[in-house]
Amino acid sequence: MSTADDSRWWRSAVIYQIYPRSFADGDGDGIGDLAGIRERLAYLSGLGVDALWLSPWYPSPMADAGYDVADHRDIDPVFGTLAEAEQLIAEAHRQGLRIIVDLVPNHCSDAHPWFQAALADPDAPERELFWFHPGRGPDGGRQPTDWVSPFGGGTWTRTTNPDGTPGDWYLHLFAPQQPDFNWDHPRVRAEFEEIIRFWLDRGVDGIRIDSAAMLAKDPTLPEVTPDGPHPFVDVDAVHGIYRSWRRIADGYPGGRALIGEVWLPDRQRFANYLRPDELHTAFNFDFLGCAWTAPALRACVDATLAAHAPVGAPATWVLSNHDVTRHVTRYGRADTTFSFAARREGIPTDLELGTRRARAAVLLSLVLPGAAYVYQGEELGLWEVEDIPHELRQDPMFLRSGGVDPGRDGCRVPLPWSGDAPPFGFSPEGATAPPWLPQPADWKDRTARAQAGDPHSMLELYRTAIALRRAEAALGDGDLTWLPAPEGVLALRRDPGLTCLVNLSGTAVPLPPHAGLLLASGPLDDDRLPPDTAVWVRSTPDDPR
Ligand code: GLC
Repeated sequence: MSTADDSRWWRSAVIYQIYPRSFADGDGDGIGDLAGIRERLAYLSGLGVDALWLSPWYPSPMADAGYDVADHRDIDPVFGTLAEAEQLIAEAHRQGLRIIVDLVPNHCSDAHPWFQAALADPDAPERELFWFHPGRGPDGGRQPTDWVSPFGGGTWTRTTNPDGTPGDWYLHLFAPQQPDFNWDHPRVRAEFEEIIRFWLDRGVDGIRIDSAAMLAKDPTLPEVTPDGPHPFVDVDAVHGIYRSWRRIADGYPGGRALIGEVWLPDRQRFANYLRPDELHTAFNFDFLGCAWTAPALRACVDATLAAHAPVGAPATWVLSNHDVTRHVTRYGRADTTFSFAARREGIPTDLELGTRRARAAVLLSLVLPGAAYVYQGEELGLWEVEDIPHELRQDPMFLRSGGVDPGRDGCRVPLPWSGDAPPFGFSPEGATAPPWLPQPADWKDRTARAQAGDPHSMLELYRTAIALRRAEAALGDGDLTWLPAPEGVLALRRDPGLTCLVNLSGTAVPLPPHAGLLLASGPLDDDRLPPDTAVWVRSTPDDPR
């Protein structure tokens, strides 16, 4: 691997997220798989990314697209086999690509053998590995707490005893098919430590930890109150889990990284997960949700760097992932922020504007100090698909909200690779099934094939920007300096010698004095930078800025 001796790769890596169901279908069943990924490794190394994070590939009934894991040490047959996963890891390494697997420790699938054993017999020892609890009220008919699931609805489901009478309730912060583990139980802890070793032994370079702030619960099960400590988000006991995992990761050579999915509004509490003996990095959802304005972005970057500095962890920069509205769409709307609570469809969207901003945004995210994430398809400029027929939607967020929340299917539509019509090369010739979600016909201009070699395409912008990031010593880990700039413009320098300007104002602004244009996200207006455009320039040696 090009960076094999660099055990601190995670501090500055460009990490590409693969959502296996939707990346590439090798066997023609309309669902992406490991064969499809293996065929596209050359594309990924050509894109220049350092690592691939694969969303869950484990055996699963797919109640939450694989985030309901029935066996953490195998591969779902729809994706392939464990042997193929091992081959994929080896082949990726040969191409200079590191591999990050997705670990789902908060919950499992209701098909997991432990949960099946716990359901079958109320006296089974496996019962203790989950949160079974009597209901409230004389007949136990009210759920134990009124907690609300991020997927909508309650967080408890009542079981039926073997004799047919109603039994205890079990906790599932997400869908009912995703029972929560009891992390107070040593067997749960030991099991996950072994699972982590299982994958690290197979050579994976990192572990993305799903719902990382939710594992520990207050065992007294209090209600959520506006002021009190939260009973299941960011409970202090969770940190002990990550300290033990860090010791395991540190025992392996080559720098194995733990990456947390930590959604917390309080940056200080967020940074606690990144103390030197805990996780290496965590996703920056503030940046993802931030409005496309200069003051908001600058404040977000400053607050992010300030929160990370005391713990010595690198920041991460994320624009999109498999859970959120794609940013080409977000940035084409009047309100450019993202929040789950406000997610709606049918909002007027200017995709041309969103695309222009997305081009500028990637130059911003790749210039900032730390690691950067690319969600599959953003390098093709894909937008959120909003017109998926309701009967084809699969996301529990859509289903459990009765369709009020459009859910996440719109960012999970299979990628367009080539050709003029669906399946756009997603599936091989002669495939037996259409892609599992329908692709828009007008993605024909957004296929990888259509964009390759076109210097104006999103794909070539990503390739060039990532290649420059590799070549420029200034980019990646380190510090930044803000430069004076007109209102609505972000100007920053990375040393040695690279300046980035992003124009978020409504008028063109002059480029700074420079010693050469490295990259622009769109056409310049003579020597002026048009609105919603970004540039990287070589700083002049004598420029005081
Ligand atoms: C994380 C995943 C999301 C999943 C949820 C429950 O937020 O990113 O896709 O639905 O956890 O596992």
